Amino acid sequence: MTVLKTAKDLELMRPACKAAGQVLREIGEMIRPGVTTLELDRIAAELIRVAGGKSAFFGYRGYPCHVCLSLNDEVVHGLASSRTLNFGDILSVDCGVALNGFIGDTARTFVVGGCQTEVSVLLEVTERALFEGIAECRSGNRVVDVSRAIQEYVEASGFSVVREFVGHGVGRSLHEDPQIPNFVEAGSSVKLKAGMTLAIEPMVNAGRAEVKFLKDGWTVKTRDGSLSAHFEHTVLVTDEEPEVLTKV
Ligand code: MF3
Ligand code: CO
Ligand code: CO
Repeated sequence: MTVLKTAKDLELMRPACKAAGQVLREIGEMIRPGVTTLELDRIAAELIRVAGGKSAFFGYRGYPCHVCLSLNDEVVHGLASSRTLNFGDILSVDCGVALNGFIGDTARTFVVGGCQTEVSVLLEVTERALFEGIAECRSGNRVVDVSRAIQEYVEASGFSVVREFVGHGVGRSLHEDPQIPNFVEAGSSVKLKAGMTLAIEPMVNAGRAEVKFLKDGWTVKTRDGSLSAHFEHTVLVTDEEPEVLTKV
């Protein structure tokens, strides 16, 4: 069931989303060669605590970390570990904060130190695809309009969208209806209404779209070993322009 948020709900949800955006930015400032992802997860836990919130991911279906940290060819749900970041790596950080009974969900892929032009193009295209999708988050549109905008932009740029994971409604729960694929799916599509809060989150591979699941039960990688990027915002559908709740 799709939940429409009231003005009162939004008063509570806005700070959760702001906190998620703020924590993600602060984690980004700590990313540099030599840092381990375990250190980043500890910092994330502390930043979320200081913001007055709780990680929306820790313990979710048994997920063992406070943020998702996915390195290079890892697509999503990477696990914090003692491996150190190297110059030229890319690291996707996904941050979900629960505060006031609501959740904000936002992600971004960061460059460690510096990278080659092809890599920065992958990141730019993925972020741009997110905003192409956000621009379609208008009452009267359908979910498929968001999906199409993302898929067309990514594929015209020569990259591919992951099919196994999708965007979603978000609010009191991390994953609410509707699902928001990053590709056009056959069949009926939910109409967007003012008051919907949606996590839009393209996952884009430099190579082929296929993914594989690691034996740790969580980490998802590209099947062909190509790099993958992930950008996500929580967005409010209104009767006017969409509002990006996790923007800082
Ligand atoms: N952050 C993911 C999303 O954007 C969900 C992560 S679930 C976890 O929907 F269990 F891996 F944390
Ligand atoms: Co997320
Ligand atoms: Co999400």
